[in-house]
Amino acid sequence: MKAVTVIPGVPESLRLRDVDKPKPGNGQVLLRPIRVGVCGTDKEIIEGKYGKAPPGSQYLILGHEALAVVEELGGGVDNVSVGDVVIPTVRRPVNCNLPVDYCPMGHYVEHGIWGLHGHAAEYSVTDAKYLVKVPKELVDVAVLTEPLSVVEKGIDVAMSIGRARFDWKPTNALILGAGPIGLLSTMVLRLMGLSTVTVATRPPDSLKARLVRDLGGTYVDAALTSVEGSFDIVVEATGSPQVTVDGLRHLAPNGVMVLLGVYPPGGSISNLGDLMTDSVLNNKVIVGSVNAGVKHFEMGLRHMADAKDRFGDWLSRLITKRATLDNYQEAYSWTHEDVKTVLEINPL
Ligand code: BGC
Repeated sequence: MKAVTVIPGVPESLRLRDVDKPKPGNGQVLLRPIRVGVCGTDKEIIEGKYGKAPPGSQYLILGHEALAVVEELGGGVDNVSVGDVVIPTVRRPVNCNLPVDYCPMGHYVEHGIWGLHGHAAEYSVTDAKYLVKVPKELVDVAVLTEPLSVVEKGIDVAMSIGRARFDWKPTNALILGAGPIGLLSTMVLRLMGLSTVTVATRPPDSLKARLVRDLGGTYVDAALTSVEGSFDIVVEATGSPQVTVDGLRHLAPNGVMVLLGVYPPGGSISNLGDLMTDSVLNNKVIVGSVNAGVKHFEMGLRHMADAKDRFGDWLSRLITKRATLDNYQEAYSWTHEDVKTVLEINPL
């Protein structure tokens, strides 16, 4: 079967390979991926900066944002049936009893990222208990569930922390970045009834700006210095340390800032003491959040259904580029105008 592979740590090693079709073991299923989404983590892996091949394999099959059909059941599987359309969650525990998205580094593997093959292939296998079933009416956009699950968890964490202290009722949010994570954060926060300001570098007539406005959100296409006021929730989705610190200065008293980016090393903070004192005197919280479990994938699917009701085809407009296995390189090249690129693998 054909599979999109890289040799982790080796830049320019992206290849379409002919590899053996995998077999599902006990508790596993064989999947026939329909499509996979491509994200910044794939880019890092392709550039040789991240990623790990499964033990005994020289290469890693990419693809962690998948929509797939169950093709065959391994022994003992009774939670899904052949023909079900599903989303596989990304992470699997290794000697860890915590909810899998809270397992520390070294105690998990991730499909298509770290130590487990992904789904950018004609077939893939995964553990049945980590599958989330997709309702028919969401199949067209459900490839966005994985990035949405990351957003759901981040916002859920912010809400839980905020409400653990008193009857906290956030009314507004600042979203830094208008890539898929920034846009999906804007969508969820708008669905929750918050007013939102999304800040990014694209001009006001760009698709990203229009997507924000079509949610009833405000789009600001400039440095954060032109943003006024303070926000109960700040979602950081740019991956820039400077933007993060600037965003923190806009956090309201009792506010929660959630970091969803991955940051380059380095960076420095001027007036660090002032910022820290302000956080203390105003009960501000900064929290990082990574990955998600079944619960947040399911929350994502519920919000997708709400978004279809309220915002029409908004979610499908996030998919701005489609490639196939034959021109797979197209899926792994980026411009600032792209929102989400998907690789079409098998017809449904
Ligand atoms: C994925 C997460 C994953 C993280 C780190 C992200 O792109 O969405 O599921 O935990 O990368 O590997």
